[in-house]
Formats: sequence, structure tokens, C-alpha cells
Amino acid sequence: MNDFLRQVVLSQEQIRQRVSELAREILSLYGDTRLILISILKGSVIFMSDLVRQLPPSTEFYFLQLSSYRDATVPQGKPDFYALPVPDLRGQHVLLVEDILDTGQSLEYAQRHFLEMKPASLRICVLLAKEGYESSPMPKPDFLGFVIPREFVVGYGLDYQERYRGLPEIGIPADL
Ligand code: IMP
Ligand code: MG
Repeated sequence: MNDFLRQVVLSQEQIRQRVSELAREILSLYGDTRLILISILKGSVIFMSDLVRQLPPSTEFYFLQLSSYRDATVPQGKPDFYALPVPDLRGQHVLLVEDILDTGQSLEYAQRHFLEMKPASLRICVLLAKEGYESSPMPKPDFLGFVIPREFVVGYGLDYQERYRGLPEIGIPADL
């Protein structure tokens, strides 16, 4: 525990173990097929970095910047969207990597954007989903790390007003 968190939701060790399991699940589905990861900035960067180091060396990664919360702790409507350069995705296997699924709006947006590029497959890998995410009509993750309570959490890439992304564990910030 550190002074910044009121409660630890997932320890460093729990995250490490689950990310390894996810990498194995991904590997058993794709094998040696060329796989393109698209990491949704900025929250999923740390998750993606841990994941990609356990996938075949041919795995590529690119980024998409989306922001729905700005400085708030509840979604602020349609996400801001910045497409960053990606290769031609036609006929490729693409895996969107996201930190957390709440309303699903961000992922739905990203999914629609990349489906237009006619990939051979487009799947979703999310580290966290908030309880009750299944009842939303939005896209469901093909790979999911943990379901967590409906609390605002930080750490392991997730921020509150751009802070706490570097914490090795995930928890509820003390100043919220
Ligand atoms: P959605 O579009 O409602 O699914 O929101 C997903 C995005 O909101 C994620 O990519 C996060 O950037 C952000 N987000 C959602 N819940 C949290 C949270 O508990 N902590 C930090 N960011 C969050
Ligand atoms: Mg995000």
C-alpha cells in the first residue's frame, strides 16, 4: 500500500499473473499469425507493454488516442478521437488493447473506426471491466483481465487528472 491509495483493488502480483495468463490466451488463439495490437492511449500503454513482451516477436503495436473523461471521473460524452498512423489493416488480425471498460463508448468508437479498414479479424483485449458492463449494448471484450467494482480506480496506466499512471498496483485514490 502507498499513501496515494485509499484501497488497493489489485496488487502488482495479481496483475502480473493475470497479464501472463492473458498473453497465453492470446497466443493460443493466434499462434504465429501476424498480429497487430492497437493500444488506446494513454491508459493502456503499461498493460500493452507487459503484454507484448510475452507475445511472439513478430507482434506489432500502434496507438490510437481517445479521451472520454478529460479531467472528470464520469464520462463526458463522445470521446475526443485522434487517429495516429497505422499500416494497411485490410486482411490483418487486429487486437484493440484497452485499460478499462466502463460504458464501452470508447471501444465502440474505436471498433467502428477500425472495422472500416476491413481487417480479417478485430478483437478486444481489456484489462479491467466495471461490474455490470455486460448489461451495456456496447462491444464485449474477447479477452478480459478482471471485473472490478464500480469505483474510480488509478494505477498501472490509469490516471486521475493525469496522475498515478505509474503506480504498480491498481486502487482507489485517497484524494477522491
Ligand atoms: P468508457 O468509454 O465509458 O468504457 O470509458 C473507458 C475509458 O474511460 C477508459 O479508456 C479510461 O481511460 C477511462 N476510465 C473509465 N473508468 C476509469 C477509472 O475507473 N479510472 C480511470 N479511467 C477510467
Ligand atoms: Mg483509456
